[in-house]
Amino acid sequence: LEEIKIAPSILAANYLRLGEELADVSTGDLIHFDVMDGHFVPNLSFGIDVVRAVKSATDLPVDVHLMITNPDEMVEKYLDAGADYLSFHYEATAHAHRLVSLIHERGAKASVALNPATPVAALEPILGDLDMVLVMTVNPGFGGQSFIESSSRKIRRLRRMCDEQGVNPLIEVDGGMSAKTVAKVTSAGANVIVAGSSVFGAPDRAAAIDEIRRAGQA
Ligand code: DX5
Ligand code: ZN
Repeated sequence: LEEIKIAPSILAANYLRLGEELADVSTGDLIHFDVMDGHFVPNLSFGIDVVRAVKSATDLPVDVHLMITNPDEMVEKYLDAGADYLSFHYEATAHAHRLVSLIHERGAKASVALNPATPVAALEPILGDLDMVLVMTVNPGFGGQSFIESSSRKIRRLRRMCDEQGVNPLIEVDGGMSAKTVAKVTSAGANVIVAGSSVFGAPDRAAAIDEIRRAGQA
């Protein structure tokens, strides 16, 4: 199997010591940053100013996952704040293609996130324009949920669609990922693994990252 990237999700970090928490996951490949607005998902997290603070405190690329309605209004602000990868939800906008173009004009990596009930076929027309596809493997809104088993089949279908088009975006999975579940998605074609509670809930974060990486590449 190819190399995978691990993206620790700071949603599960201790917010009172965020700088130290970021330093503790420096063996990861991306910092995953969950923005929740209390509308698109029934929970509220953090926003633009915290992205800016995180960007200043890590050398890793910042992977912003917008779980917000009207992403069209906010994407530029998150790019200004330092997002290197920007994922918005397919379900939240009528203008996915326009948003992808905007993200690219600003020099960032563009990604579209899919809720569990959204078929991968929705991305068929714009797949070739994407740097990454984010497949939700739980319903967005909360950390610590269980992996939805049918996601493996969905990822396999997405990988097949990419092969048919001769394109190779990163395939990121988000929700319920641990050393126990990661092989179910990497064997289906995923190569970027978001991990919140399985990393920040572990006493030794570097060991947890290493364990997920090895289980995913086995
Ligand atoms: C859920 C978020 C996830 C969350 C994953 O809506 O998008 O990024 O942090 O948490 P775990 O890894 O605990 O399932
Ligand atoms: Zn996320």
